[in-house]
Amino acid sequence: MILFRTPFLVAFLIVLHLTSCKKLDSYSERMNQFKMDELHHRPLFHFTPEKNWMNDPNGMFFYKGVYHLYFQHNPDANVWGPMHWGHATSKDLKHWEEHEIALFPDELGTIFSGSAVVDHKNTSKLGTLENPPIVAIYTNHNSQKAKKGNAIDFQNQSIAYSTDEGYSWTKYERNPVLKNPGIIDFRDPKVFWHEGSQKWIMSLAAGQEIQYFESQNLLSWSYLSSFGQGIGNHDGVWECPDLFPLPVNGTQARKWVQLVSINPGGPNGGSATQYFIGDFDGTQFIVDSEFQKAMEKKHSYWIDFGKDNYAGVTFSNWSNKANGVLYLGWMSNWEYANKVPTTKWRSAMTLPRELELIQNQDGFRLHSKAPSDWDKYTVKTLEKETFSQQKETRLIEKGAIDLSTAQIKLNLVDLEEKKYTFILENSRGEKLSFGLNEKAHQFFIDRSQAGETSFSETFSRKPSIAPRTKKATSLQIQFILDKMSLEVFFDQGETVMTEIFFTHAPFETLSLKTDANTVKIENLLIRELGKK
Ligand code: FRU
Repeated sequence: MILFRTPFLVAFLIVLHLTSCKKLDSYSERMNQFKMDELHHRPLFHFTPEKNWMNDPNGMFFYKGVYHLYFQHNPDANVWGPMHWGHATSKDLKHWEEHEIALFPDELGTIFSGSAVVDHKNTSKLGTLENPPIVAIYTNHNSQKAKKGNAIDFQNQSIAYSTDEGYSWTKYERNPVLKNPGIIDFRDPKVFWHEGSQKWIMSLAAGQEIQYFESQNLLSWSYLSSFGQGIGNHDGVWECPDLFPLPVNGTQARKWVQLVSINPGGPNGGSATQYFIGDFDGTQFIVDSEFQKAMEKKHSYWIDFGKDNYAGVTFSNWSNKANGVLYLGWMSNWEYANKVPTTKWRSAMTLPRELELIQNQDGFRLHSKAPSDWDKYTVKTLEKETFSQQKETRLIEKGAIDLSTAQIKLNLVDLEEKKYTFILENSRGEKLSFGLNEKAHQFFIDRSQAGETSFSETFSRKPSIAPRTKKATSLQIQFILDKMSLEVFFDQGETVMTEIFFTHAPFETLSLKTDANTVKIENLLIRELGKK
């Protein structure tokens, strides 16, 4: 009997062995991938969740020296799913600490994007004047209703409040505070206190427009007006609006900026954020007539032309001396966000940027200022005097600087109508190129050879481009590398390009290639950055 059974037993043991080997294989593959995620992809200075999925930044506010960032989060998987608000804080916007989940789905739905304000005057009566409540306004997305197919009112606006400076939250018992009037995409409330009319204003994405609502107490809202029909880009869904004033050229004069994220329809495909400049009187946003004319000629204005800066909005309760605003976006694109090759966690935020409004002979333009004050995190610095060379110049030799996390600034002067390409390269021959094609008046990034690209057809099908609007024979460039990301600020942040990449080893060299006769570089400053 035993003998008869032996071949079966042996076969069974072989199968068992093979499956456990397979399991071990996939286990070790996973472990290798985890190591790769942590070593080569997890940024040092950009927020990433410890585990699993993240998309839009939500509810950002600054209070008592602490920056709070909430984020669209699926804590149970590394792909988009039932949305929660994750939470992280930072004191320097360079390092983030992740906390407990702030908001969980409830009977009204999952927790989509929204904002948070410090209710200094306790208008909501949810706190006290001495300890003002932080009030979060978000979209409840009822996915059961949405799945049924015939409902259109499954997104409603609700609030939650915190009386311990944003660390724990209570949902308001009479949610929702703003009911859906029958619009499929009715979401992403961004609220601010309007000094001029002493009331709260909400901008909300509502189908193909932005709707404005007012409130005295954050608890009951009335419709004011709409903006957006027939203006700007409408090639995708309108999402994540933000409305705020900015001084013009740093003077007393000011204009209002309306941000609108759109997906798809971005200038290089997929998700991107357009902006409009105009005036807001407490009731209506009206686009500046010059800006509108310029827009008709040039199409839309984009806060970032790279493929990876989406759903960005500004921090509440924050202002600098120049009355600027602080902005941060999600560093991915819906075209491939669910497929990027990290496993333990998915997605990072962009670095925070201060926004400024400049008006010149070409009209208004939003500038993004790259984060400065890296001194504390600088491990090594290289500076080079002005020099000129030909065809190909090595700016950083192998072994000189660890380029996985670095900030680099330089000026290109005496530009000719030629192409200037910066090339970052590693020992595996992986390359990331970007620069200026002055002949075509275009900036570009090409990540087609920068490591893993096969997870998506559109990730690197063609280089991303951005028009150079400034007419000048010199160019100031600043770029920041942080493991998996390149953020380039051209012309003092007049044009920004943010893109992610997935190399298998850090970049070791930086070169500049050109078909110009000579190339002059001034004030080259290279900082290797690290945690200190
Ligand atoms: C933008 C967005 C928002 C929505 C959220 C859902 O990326 O689609 O409109 O609230 O993501 O996660």
